[in-house]
Amino acid sequence: MKKIGVLVSGGGTNLQAILRAIDYGIIKKGIIITVVSNRESVYALEIAKQNNISSSVILKKDYSNVADYNNAILNHMKKNNIDLIVMAGFLSIVGDPLVKEYKNKIINIHPSLIPSFCGEGYYGLKVHQEVIKRGVKITGATVHFVDNIVDGGPIIMQKAVKVKQNDTPGTLQKRVMKEAEWIILPKAISLFCEGKLKVINNKVIIEEI
Ligand code: GRF
Repeated sequence: MKKIGVLVSGGGTNLQAILRAIDYGIIKKGIIITVVSNRESVYALEIAKQNNISSSVILKKDYSNVADYNNAILNHMKKNNIDLIVMAGFLSIVGDPLVKEYKNKIINIHPSLIPSFCGEGYYGLKVHQEVIKRGVKITGATVHFVDNIVDGGPIIMQKAVKVKQNDTPGTLQKRVMKEAEWIILPKAISLFCEGKLKVINNKVIIEEI
């Protein structure tokens, strides 16, 4: 059974999707041990409490630099013997020593089809505002391993979502979450926990049965 640590910053809908997938047996070999938020009193912490999952708040302002902040998260995950870290709506930058120690063991969900609309400054609603501004017809979500380049790690899974003529950034964000994020994030976690994800030459190979 793989031990999962989930990093959150907000509403926790992706955390909820992971918990649902565990309940429904989509994720069979993974269990959430800890939820860590970079912000206090966000609803994701309430979701953890409702599911009897221990949670912690690790605030960046309590550390003098990004490396010390990442070290605090790293120590928390190692103390809990975490095998997989999942960034579920997490809005802080992660880097060394966390990324080094958990190479190809940190998964992030990004609300676009990487390499479009990603990188510095592209997160949450902003992504969908830019998608609509550019007038693209297809968007979606991407699950990828995390490395030191923002949204730059090896891509695990993607799912496309049509952009509707009358979409606002809000309606598009909700549909991308519902039709893509909440589906591919649990699937990618399940594949990781079953040992079916291999990274060769910085590309993810999914080992079928
Ligand atoms: C979502 O848009 C997700 O793609 C992004 O953060 C937003 C909120 O996620 N990573 P959640 O509801 O807190 O899981």
